[in-house]
Amino acid sequence: MLPEPTARLRFRHMTRSDLDDVLALLVAFDPMRGDRPPSTRDDAVRWIEWQERNHAEHDFGLWVVETHDGAFVGDCGLTVQDVEGVPHVEVGYHLLPAMRSHGYATEAARSVRDCAAAHGVDHLVALIRPDNAPSQAVARRLGMEVERTAHVHGGDAWVFGMRLQRS
Ligand SMILES: CC(C)(COP(=O)(O)OP(=O)(O)OC[C@H]1O[C@@H](n2cnc3c(N)ncnc32)[C@H](O)[C@@H]1OP(=O)(O)O)[C@@H](O)C(=O)NCCC(=O)NCCS
Repeated sequence: MLPEPTARLRFRHMTRSDLDDVLALLVAFDPMRGDRPPSTRDDAVRWIEWQERNHAEHDFGLWVVETHDGAFVGDCGLTVQDVEGVPHVEVGYHLLPAMRSHGYATEAARSVRDCAAAHGVDHLVALIRPDNAPSQAVARRLGMEVERTAHVHGGDAWVFGMRLQRS
């Protein structure tokens, strides 16, 4: 599956040729990831390989988001996340710093949300650290509300969620 293009953005699969951009994305994401060591090129390779596995197993993953001119904006998509032993489908989004504050994350995530609904996902979540206000704002713009808190990836997170109906 591939989310529909939007007024300003389009989606495509992530490949090894995205390595430099994916590394920049992960390094920019580091401050929101707690006490992990700084992201490396090997982490970026693993991130891309994770999407290859996601697509093979689920027919979804994090897609590259780019402008209609082909400028790399970030990634956005769906992954399966374990929340205290229960698998949940999560919408995820990560933008290069220069691409933030243009409304791109919300625009991309709305298309991903609608794609999830069209493919029968009936509950969508976003696991967000309590101090990640920009990400919480995106989740709220998507129509999500805090459903609970949970311990995920070694830290506390708010579980934003919403019900979806097949369109
Ligand atoms: C989370 C993240 C994707 C949010 O990005 P963002 O650009 O703030 O989010 P949006 O796309 O919704 O943009 C909203 C902003 O664009 C502004 N904007 C400018 N032009 C706009 C337009 N045409 N349409 C809509 N909004 C527009 C809005 O006013 C808003 O500004 P504000 O933040 O000052 O209120 C970004 O901070 C990021 O990549 N963080 C690191 C990765 C991360 O934490 N991911 C989430 C893990 S849980």
